[in-house]
Amino acid sequence: MAEDLLLIQGTKEEQYQALLPQIKALIDGEEDLIANLANIAAALKQQFGWLWVGFYLVKREILVLGPFQGPVACTRIQKGRGVCGKSWELAQTLIVPDVEKFPGHIACSSLSKSEIVLPLFDNNETVTGVLDIDSEQLDTFDETDQLYLEEIVSWISF
Ligand code: SME
Repeated sequence: MAEDLLLIQGTKEEQYQALLPQIKALIDGEEDLIANLANIAAALKQQFGWLWVGFYLVKREILVLGPFQGPVACTRIQKGRGVCGKSWELAQTLIVPDVEKFPGHIACSSLSKSEIVLPLFDNNETVTGVLDIDSEQLDTFDETDQLYLEEIVSWISF
């Protein structure tokens, strides 16, 4: 697989449909978790240009910053805190159209206006991390993002 991404224009759906097989090809055959998370974050950021795309990984009962693309971010998030900690606690995807209206939102960047966070699971359905994506615009994420991003994180199990 060439390490080049074919970026496309089009609807959100068309962008995901072009991107997903390319992400699959990037991670297929590579067993290293960090390498795969790094390429997923880079591919999503390259295609969509969101403010921040990255992973937090559960380590000793706290989320610790993992591979990401974007501005520097807070390094540790407790269970139940912020959108990431809540997604971990509830083991479900959270879409936040306006971060200022989310109680306890952790503002790593004042530029962040909306957010989606998806949990990562191991084979026992235990949450092992989250994928966090932040946008500079309000109301960026919807069920289409949820659908395709959940597909991507389902390829990662650790
Ligand atoms: N906003 C997140 C914290 C992580 S940063 O945005 C990168 C939250 O409330 O969990």
